[in-house]
Amino acid sequence: MREQSRTDFFTILPGEKISMDLSTTIAGVQFPTCFMNASGALCVTREELYALGRSRAGAIVTKSMTVEPRAGNPEPRYFGFPGGSINSMGLPNLGYRAYAELIPELAQFGKPVIASIAGLCEDDFLTMARVIDQARPDLIEVNLSCPNIPGKPQIAYDPVDSERLLKRLRPLITVPMGVKLPPYFDPAHHVVMADVIRRSGVDYLNLINSVGNGLVVNPRQDSPVIKPKGGFGGLGGSLIKPVALANVRAFWKLLEGRIPIIGTGGIMQGVDAFEHVLCGAWAVQVGTVLVEEGVGVFERLERELMEALAMRGQPSLHECRGKLKEL
Ligand code: SIN
Repeated sequence: MREQSRTDFFTILPGEKISMDLSTTIAGVQFPTCFMNASGALCVTREELYALGRSRAGAIVTKSMTVEPRAGNPEPRYFGFPGGSINSMGLPNLGYRAYAELIPELAQFGKPVIASIAGLCEDDFLTMARVIDQARPDLIEVNLSCPNIPGKPQIAYDPVDSERLLKRLRPLITVPMGVKLPPYFDPAHHVVMADVIRRSGVDYLNLINSVGNGLVVNPRQDSPVIKPKGGFGGLGGSLIKPVALANVRAFWKLLEGRIPIIGTGGIMQGVDAFEHVLCGAWAVQVGTVLVEEGVGVFERLERELMEALAMRGQPSLHECRGKLKEL
């Protein structure tokens, strides 16, 4: 079989400036570009949130907040390695009252603010939703998938608990409500969760959180590379891209492209974002590469995505959404 040759693509001359519309709309909210931070990466403190505001990120996503402020898990709790990262941060955050005060300030940056909430029990979500909704973020993201709290299973692996919680939250949230899900590894699980999402009034999905409970070993020290949970943590970066793409694709098909999806997982270069969009993503979030490179990464990713679209003769992001071909 013939490999696709490079001559199938258009050429961009060195130094040629390309300009393309990378804006996107999710649940009626307009984003100036499709790139934003994943909740967790450089978004805990006021300084970090302001830095995202000043950057080229298309939105400001808060760290997943809990009712009480948390220092998070013991260090070392993040480790980057070629191909990816492992983390067990344990939801370090300022507590929802602090974010309720900060969110109105973030409006000055003129881009959407996504408030991520992660309760340690069902009632925590309800308590936070009532107050955070009044702070008027543009969207609220319900994180049902943090793998790093000892003794707290990821809620989204239980469809009954997930549906009950989402249905209790729905009437309390007046802005668009999204849900951040963990990766699923079997089509039967995609089907069950897509049904839950359809029944629960969810406005958008964020797919996927880190691949939970991986273990990275340092063979020189006979030990894991992070301390919490005996070294178990969430995997991110390039190595999880195929899992993220599969989840974006599966939910895009099951929900027939009717519920917007933010693709998260394995976006290190512009072309990775293009792949997410082909599979059905409206926008993308970056975690590992943001931690590794800082907020300057958004400019690079934008340029690379424009190049990837131009090389393929694609006039805009929207036209490629969901257009993955079958072989
Ligand atoms: C963490 O703080 O442990 C990561 C957050 C998440 O995976 O949702």
